[in-house]
Amino acid sequence: MLALGIETSCDETAVALLSFSDGNARLICEEVSSQFEVHKAYGGVVPELASREHLRNLPLLLDGVLARGACRLEDLAVIGVTGGPGLKGCLLMGISFAKGLALPSALPLLEVNHIEAHLLAACLDNPDLRYPFLSLIVSGGHTEIHEVHGLGQYRLVARTMDDAAGEAFDKSANLLGYDYPGGAALAALADSYGKSEIRLPRVMREAEGFSFSGLKTAISLAVQERKGALSDPAVKGSLASAIQEAIVDALIFKLKQAVKKSGIRQISLAGGVSANQCLRRRMGELKGCQAYFPAAEHCMDNAAMVAYAAVLRFAAGQRGAGEIQARSSWPVESLRPPQVQLE
Ligand code: KG4
Ligand code: ZN
Repeated sequence: MLALGIETSCDETAVALLSFSDGNARLICEEVSSQFEVHKAYGGVVPELASREHLRNLPLLLDGVLARGACRLEDLAVIGVTGGPGLKGCLLMGISFAKGLALPSALPLLEVNHIEAHLLAACLDNPDLRYPFLSLIVSGGHTEIHEVHGLGQYRLVARTMDDAAGEAFDKSANLLGYDYPGGAALAALADSYGKSEIRLPRVMREAEGFSFSGLKTAISLAVQERKGALSDPAVKGSLASAIQEAIVDALIFKLKQAVKKSGIRQISLAGGVSANQCLRRRMGELKGCQAYFPAAEHCMDNAAMVAYAAVLRFAAGQRGAGEIQARSSWPVESLRPPQVQLE
């Protein structure tokens, strides 16, 4: 069967086509339109602008995917659309568009939890990954660790109480003079510098969740103290390296705790920050554990993971859930395994 996925929860518009048979998923094609250029000048995502971009991009991406996949709407078995969590206006664009496709042809339309889609993305690209596994989602909007025991069976281990790790990277990068989102640029500078002699405080290790706000203040002070010397590449590189180490250290520390507590030794990573080389390298500190990464294009927001989550639930018997709401908050641990529903 064929599934179409639609993702508009933040600043990526994405549409993907996936085939599924005998429990095996195969991505046929996908289109993503990122909005970095649109939001760069504002130092962060402007929801109203993002919504307008989604509205403009969705029909173009859909046409591209259907043409590349040589597929018509009538060939689809199910459509999955992100229902949350995310920016409400952005979600509404995707939901309205999906409804417009599904209703006239009475196609089943499933709302997909964006975090569930991220959690499952590792399985799409690593068919050998089996439940249970731990998943660390680290992006510009999310920083959380979950135990994944099966479809719709998630246990929250830790979530950020303030900023997301990507946000900490981006805000720090901004202090060093990089445009939004500067996380990857800061990471590149840090890697080229090597080990820093600056030591930033380690973030609240004893707390249940992640917290980056104290670190943010320390980073801001450290940059302020060296304000006049930022044009010196060594000073800037040293700061970047210290910042990266401190953020990654918080992620690794909580992962180690999660492994110890759960006994689960398979770990998947998702979200834009999972591209970070220092984080990937330091995963090696988790002795006896196997790390799984979705393909680079499926670490960040994408629609292949949405189509995949939808088709897994559809194949397990779930059908449309009535009115689809755009939800800014939708904890993934509130989900349940699919219930078989009558047609
Ligand atoms: O998942 P994602 O593509 O999108 C959203 O969060 O919406 O994640 C983007 C985040 C940004 O904060 C970006 O700066 C960060 O991922 N990022 C990185 C790296 N590449 C992307 N952070 C650190 N190191 C990287 N190599
Ligand atoms: Zn995401």
